[in-house]
Amino acid sequence: MKKKQILIVDDEPGSLKAISIALAKDNDYQVIDAADGKTALRLIKEEQIDLVLTDMKLPDIDGLTILKSAKYKNPDTSVIVITGYGTVESAVLAMKDGAENYLTKPINIKELRLLISNAFAKQQLAIENKELRTQLNIRYGFQNIIGHSPNMQQIYKTILQVAPVNCNVLICGESGTGKELIAKALHYNSPRKNKLFLPINCTALPESLIESELFGYEKGAFTGAINRHSGKFEAADGGTLFLDEIGDMPLPAQARLLRVLEQKEFLRVGGVSSVKVDVRIIAATNKDLLSEVQKKRFREDLYWRLKVVIIQLPPLRERRDDIPLLIDAFIHEFNQTNQRNIMGISPKALNALMLHDYPGNIRELKNIIESMAILSQNEMLDLDDLPALIQEPSEKNERIVINIGTSMEEAEKKIISQTLKKVNENRTMAAGILGIGLRTLHRKIKEYKL
Ligand SMILES: Nc1ncnc2c1ncn2[C@@H]1O[C@H](COP(=O)(O)OP(=O)(O)OP(=O)(O)O)[C@@H](O)[C@H]1O
Ligand SMILES: [Mg+2]
Repeated sequence: MKKKQILIVDDEPGSLKAISIALAKDNDYQVIDAADGKTALRLIKEEQIDLVLTDMKLPDIDGLTILKSAKYKNPDTSVIVITGYGTVESAVLAMKDGAENYLTKPINIKELRLLISNAFAKQQLAIENKELRTQLNIRYGFQNIIGHSPNMQQIYKTILQVAPVNCNVLICGESGTGKELIAKALHYNSPRKNKLFLPINCTALPESLIESELFGYEKGAFTGAINRHSGKFEAADGGTLFLDEIGDMPLPAQARLLRVLEQKEFLRVGGVSSVKVDVRIIAATNKDLLSEVQKKRFREDLYWRLKVVIIQLPPLRERRDDIPLLIDAFIHEFNQTNQRNIMGISPKALNALMLHDYPGNIRELKNIIESMAILSQNEMLDLDDLPALIQEPSEKNERIVINIGTSMEEAEKKIISQTLKKVNENRTMAAGILGIGLRTLHRKIKEYKL
């Protein structure tokens, strides 16, 4: 590991030397020193300094200037200031400007060492946090949403338009279509990205707990409420609250939620003064909310509040063109996480996967690829790696019925037209399934006027 570089700025030669020598003995640090402000500023500019230890009073400039320029060069640099006896006010000022801590003269080396190691620990934590956030931003940015089909492109456009705005968004789609992925993309592409993305599964919350979970409670609100407890709304302040499976929220909680959305404030359970929050709501459901409204199981006014923008995710069987891309991405992901080296999938196995209907959508496809990759002995996934469900045409598989007495021409016409229909008119895919060249297919489409 690279040694941490410490700059010591002090105009008293005696104490400067003493500190330098003491710190240089610690193997993890590399110490450089400056006896005046000008030299210090030059070193800050030229060197990569991790921590500055500076006297507040220097002959040419004051410690605050050193502090500010160190922070200007790199906000992660820690600064510890040293003050003379009786001038602690200046140290307090320095702390306001971002100094890590202060020491008063005469300096106790033991105390100094402790402050320095604390400062580095804190710095490390800040660096790790930043890395984590960048990783999250990459993870939930667009790069992770796979799909080139026209309906997905429309969805990307909507995300870009809607993410920076504060409006509520309702994401609808069957199970496994990527609702949570889209919700995260909205959050991580919004100005709220450095605050919390807090998912709540409305199905998992018992009705009796929903209110206290969402809004918190005051001390003594009910037996067992020993202390005040803040709810999810407070925790997500400044960030995004993802209300998953909103269609399953009980009606009384829906009423409370509506009031918060309208007034942007609420009372904790048992509370008298209201709490203001700034939270963006993204809700998701795999139910048809409008029909839930008609059945009086979902409040109509809440529905209108939530659906300022609706993002409707298509089931995978309606965007089969994306299946090859998704398979490639999942194989790549699997190779990375499991140190495998699977090269790809054979055209025959791909064809079989293209024809499956995926009631579990992308989650199902992902699981299939993962289990194939685990079990396969081959570098190239092949037909015999496929789960039985997909390998064998089952009763559920659609058939093309050709009656005896049908001419070859009629039969061919039927086979081609129904295959095309199955793959949403994707000709490359149809040609692959039929085992003919793309040009032949084009010719036959023309010939049969399909
Ligand atoms: N477009 C996509 N590209 C890549 N991976 C995707 C895509 N959509 C979904 N996935 C993956 O599929 C899985 C299911 O996605 P997600 O959990 O977002 O679905 P969901 O709609 O919330 O499902 P449910 O209704 O069951 O909660 C996740 O592993 C997710 O990463
Ligand atoms: Mg989900």
